[in-house]
Amino acid sequence: MADSSRRRENRLEADGPESVWIQSHSSFAPAEGTSAVKFREMTADDVPALFFVRPRTRENALTLEELQRLGINPQSVTERLGQSTKGWVCDDAGQVVAFSMADRATGEFLVIAVLPDYEGRGVGGKLMYLAEEWLAASGCKRAWLSTDLDTTLRAYGFYRKRGWTDWKIERGNRYMELRPLP
Ligand SMILES: CC(C)(COP(=O)(O)OP(=O)(O)OC[C@H]1O[C@@H](n2cnc3c(N)ncnc32)[C@H](O)[C@@H]1OP(=O)(O)O)[C@@H](O)C(=O)NCCC(=O)NCCS
Repeated sequence: MADSSRRRENRLEADGPESVWIQSHSSFAPAEGTSAVKFREMTADDVPALFFVRPRTRENALTLEELQRLGINPQSVTERLGQSTKGWVCDDAGQVVAFSMADRATGEFLVIAVLPDYEGRGVGGKLMYLAEEWLAASGCKRAWLSTDLDTTLRAYGFYRKRGWTDWKIERGNRYMELRPLP
């Protein structure tokens, strides 16, 4: 696959028994005054922070009201985490600054969100890789996601760069897929 070298770049190193992941992307440079970010699995304790990050992305931001209308609220996310959904967070000095989630039952890549100050440093790529790798390890042969129709949004170029391809357009949403998984 065209981006296989990038996938290799994204291999992660375990950092101790708590499965804390360290950033190894060559282009990552922590902002002055911040510590190196860490990647770890999401827990129910992280759920409130997800609802801080998701409305604050530079593009594609969703208000709490819009999320609620989609049936996405702290309770629903906590319930999903106890089922077939798993998530990962990027943590900077104890603050969640980005996260991703996927569902192994359907192969859906559910969400990715990176706070504006942390964009363009490899954070989104790492979070996406963790989800893709877990879906593959869970037996999914293919992953899919839905996103905005607007191809000028950063997310579309980001997905394409990572090997995702257009699948279909339905009810005002673009659907993309990734196969094979890493
Ligand atoms: C999309 C998003 C997750 C990307 O996160 P990020 O941390 O900035 O991404 P990264 O820095 O890991 O990687 C970006 C990669 O995509 C590439 N990329 C980004 N925009 C691109 C574009 N328009 N065209 C081609 N490549 C692009 C970058 O060059 C980079 O590749 P590289 O690592 O080989 O240099 C982030 O911008 C975000 O949270 N956006 C708002 C929320 C959102 O849209 N979520 C998706 C809803 S469907």
